[in-house]
Order: sequence, then structure tokens, then C-alpha cells
Amino acid sequence: MSQKDKIKNLIDLRVKAKLGGGEKRIDSQHAKGKLTARERIDLLLDEGSFEEFDMFVTHRCTDFGLEKESYLGDGVVTGYGTIDGRLVYVFAVDFTVLGGSLSETFSKKICKVMDQAMKVGAPVIGLNDSGGARIQEGVQALAGYAEIFERNILASGVIPQISAIFGPCAGGAVYSPALTDFILMSKENSYMFLTGPKVVKTVTGESVTDAELGGAMVHATKSGVTHFVADTEQEGLLLIRKLLSFIPSNNLEESPLVANIDPIDRLEDTLNDIIPENPNKPYDVKDVIHAIVDNNEFMEVHRHFAPNLVVGFARFNGQSVGIVANQPKYLAGVLDINSSRKGARFVRFCDCFNIPIVTLVDVPGFLPGTGQEYGGVIVHGAKFLFAYGEATVPKVTVTLRKSYGGAHIVMSCKQLRGDINYEWPTAEIAVMGASGAASVLYGRQIGAIEDVEEKAKFVAEKEQEYTDKFANPYVAAKYGFVDDVIEPRNTRFRVIRALQALSTKKDTLPPKKHSNIPL
Ligand code: HXC
Repeated sequence: MSQKDKIKNLIDLRVKAKLGGGEKRIDSQHAKGKLTARERIDLLLDEGSFEEFDMFVTHRCTDFGLEKESYLGDGVVTGYGTIDGRLVYVFAVDFTVLGGSLSETFSKKICKVMDQAMKVGAPVIGLNDSGGARIQEGVQALAGYAEIFERNILASGVIPQISAIFGPCAGGAVYSPALTDFILMSKENSYMFLTGPKVVKTVTGESVTDAELGGAMVHATKSGVTHFVADTEQEGLLLIRKLLSFIPSNNLEESPLVANIDPIDRLEDTLNDIIPENPNKPYDVKDVIHAIVDNNEFMEVHRHFAPNLVVGFARFNGQSVGIVANQPKYLAGVLDINSSRKGARFVRFCDCFNIPIVTLVDVPGFLPGTGQEYGGVIVHGAKFLFAYGEATVPKVTVTLRKSYGGAHIVMSCKQLRGDINYEWPTAEIAVMGASGAASVLYGRQIGAIEDVEEKAKFVAEKEQEYTDKFANPYVAAKYGFVDDVIEPRNTRFRVIRALQALSTKKDTLPPKKHSNIPL
């Protein structure tokens, strides 16, 4: 073959590889409203930056007719490229090849990019759309999954790992995404479950659809498995690009500093009267977040799950931070099982990747009841407490209103190595709220008063007495448990100054193999 023919052969092979399972299957992918693996990569990465690996890899299976059916690339497109100029590694499952099912060689391709990402310290992004283990292969496919899982585990806390689900993700295949830092699902075509509707029907008798069992909104609202939901794949890929802008490429780096044009001393007068006069009236803590961060820009994580706690990324003077805030608008901002799980996971992510944490507190306590106790709220609350207490990144806390009891301790208090803790004049740091305290302290006297009006007057007096004595910011301030009481409209400026002061913070944990967080 002449050199010219050899080059032509290469070009022909590339064209063939790029067609994956062929035109007909690409059309069928599009007809389902889904993009192909390569179209997804093109949207995810900076234009023209993708360098592909292993385009000519094929499977080695010789059973069930697969000896006669093979595809260049074997169902997964892998390689590296850039997002906003920063290196990332990527794999995108190609559903047009044998339903994106995972074979031995397919898994080796994923392992190759993961290994290289670890060596160079770059994030890995996986775009999933797969029928699970390649049934014709069997045990090699299982081994392949395990090889990937082990790499997910070793990479955890070293490089960010992000998974998008743009189609089926069933059986053991769900565990690789579950081991990564963030999952994003597209609203229409994606679903994740360990066992599909048919098995569910046989085993439990329940009749459910794919979407009811493991659709995006189910995992966003009920299980908390997915952190993000996107209306379309295009929106999902843009969201991943945005997410990456807030996080560093590995655990030894800081998040990218972004040029900031929002004045650092911008005063927000609206904050001076955002807290309602009535202590039981809610307000939206997201209004506070938007008011204090750069350009009012907040990227919420886990938006639909446990909305009584808000977590997400924002910037102060161009520096990326993780924000954790109780949300008085939902369940009065109470902590419960799900919000504790959500908060703990987010705090740990920030701590792994050197992202300072800004905590906004307005919490009436933990949610009482058998539902919570039987579900192990003690362990889940401990998880959140543990995450904060263990975190060594800069921690700045602002108490806006209530901060009662155990929940006060959890929410980055001074004694959990909170670095700089501020309170608004509306803050109430106490063991419990005034009405609870009055009923415990004066329960016997209250019970003895028969006249309804007299009883109400007595209760109101005692509640007021407790409020005057404890439900104000100066008790904690007197003990140095907070560093200052600040005017709400100055919050942005004070937080930025605090973060600047803490930018060289060094803190360590005692030497150990690893901690034993209450899982
Ligand atoms: C081999 C597969 C496959 C698989 C799909 N295909 N899944 N080939 N192994 N696991 C092939 C189909 O035969 C078909 O080939 C093509 O992919 C497209 O599939 P369709 O069924 O036509 O597509 P669709 O209607 O969209 O349905 C997609 C699907 C369904 C829901 C994923 O294909 C399905 O249920 N597949 C089996 C899922 C499964 O049970 N996987 C094993 C799970 S066990 P043609 O040639 O017709 O285009 C597991 C263990 C892992 O994963 C454990 C790890 C620890």
C-alpha cells in the first residue's frame, strides 16, 4: 500500500469509527431525543480541543454471534480536552454500539483515561447512556465494572469526578456514578435503578414505570441520588462546564480565581430589614445569598432535595466558596435526616478540594418524631456535625436569626473549629427557642393555672423573660463564642475580609489511616 493509500485508509477508518453503531442507530438515538456520544463531547468541551484515545479498540468476545459483530471504539468514546482552557478527561458511552453495554475492552478504555487523569491531576467527566454489563461477555464485564469502581474510589478526594446520566443506567452500572462527586440527570430520557420495573414487579408486585422508579425528578427529590437535573442534555453539559468553574482540578490546587467587578464594599440595605419582626415568619435565605455574593450568582447543588437546607457554589471577590444555609422557608429551616446527609456530603466535597465554606445559620433545631428517630437522625446528624468538625478549609459563619441547641453546634459553631463567626443583631443563640424553654422551665406552674387568659399571660411573660435573657446575640458574644455582631448590610464586606484573612489558613488532623465518619 502506498503512503497515500495508508493515509486514506486511516481517514476511512476514522470515519467508520465516528459512526459508532452506524447511521440507522444514530437516527434512532436522535429519534429518542438523545444526542450521540460524540455530539455530547463536542458540546461539553472547548471547540476543537478533544483528543481521542483508543478509537480502534474492539471487543474480544467470541460468543453469541459477537465474533461477527464488532465496532471500532467498542461503545465508548474516551480522551481529553479542555473546558474554559482547563484540562479534563472524558468518557462518553455510545448507546449506538450494542446499547452502550460495557465489555472488558470498554472498561479498559475508561480505566486508561482515569489513570492518566490521576497522574496529571485533572477532573474526569463520565457521560453515561448504557444497557449495563454486555450480556454476551458476562464475567469479564463484571470485572471491568469493578476495575472502574476501584479507580473511582482511589480518585475520590484527589480529582473531581462528575457523572452525567443521559439514558439508561441500570444494575451495577449505577455504582460508578454513585461513587463520583456529582451526578447530573437529564429530565426526559435518563433513569437509574439497581433493578428495573420487571424485576420489581416479580419480587415485590409493585407496578412502576422507568421514570417512576428511577427518573431524574425521583432521584432529585426523593432519593437525593442526583445533584442536578437538566431540562435537556445541552443544558446539562453547560451546567457541568459551569460547575467546573467553581472547583479546582485536583486536591492540591485552589479553585480558579475569577476577575471580579462587583464592589467588595457593596452595602446591601435590604438585608437590614430582611428578617421579619415575627420570629415565626419565614423569609427566603436565597435572597440573602444572592445579595452578598459576587454578581448575585449562586449555583445551587441538590436544589430539589431537602430544601430546608440550601447548598451550592458562589464567589466572594472572585474566590470560589461553598455556601451552606438553613432555609426558613421550608420546615422552618429545621435539620433532619435528608438535610444532614445533603449538608455533610457538600461540606466534605468542599473540604476535599480546598473550597472555603460560608455558613448562614437560621435553624430552630432538629426535627422531632419517630419517623426521624427510626430513620437514624442521630447518625445522620452526627455525619453533618462530623463533616464540619473535620473540615480544615476556612470556615466563616454568619448567624442570621435562630441557632438553637444541637443544630447550633452542627452549623459550624466556633468550637467545631469555625474560624470567623459573626452574628446579625437579630441572632438568637440558645439551647432552645423561648416557647420551648418556658414550657420546660415553668411546665408545672403553667399546668396549675386554670384561667385561660391568665395562663396565656403567664406563658407570654416567661417567654419574654427567656427571650430577653438568652434569645439575643450578646450572650454568645459575651463569651467570645462569636467574633462580632455585624450590621446585616455589611455582610458581604465582612465575609470577604474574613476570607482574605483566612486565605493562608493551615489546619491539620491527627495522623490516622482515615476517620470513621458515622455513615
Ligand atoms: C448487550 C445490549 C445490552 C446489554 C442493550 N443491548 N443492552 N447488548 N448487552 N446489556 C442492545 C440491544 O440488544 C439492542 O441491540 C441495542 O442494544 C439497543 O437496545 P434496545 O433494547 O433496542 O434499546 P431501548 O429500547 O432503548 O432499551 C434500552 C434498555 C434495554 C432499557 C437498556 O436494551 C435493556 O433493558 N437492556 C438490558 C439491560 C440489562 O439487563 N443489562 C444488564 C444489567 S446487569 P440491536 O442490535 O437490536 O440494536 C448489570 C450487571 C452489572 O449491568 C454489575 C456491575 C457490578
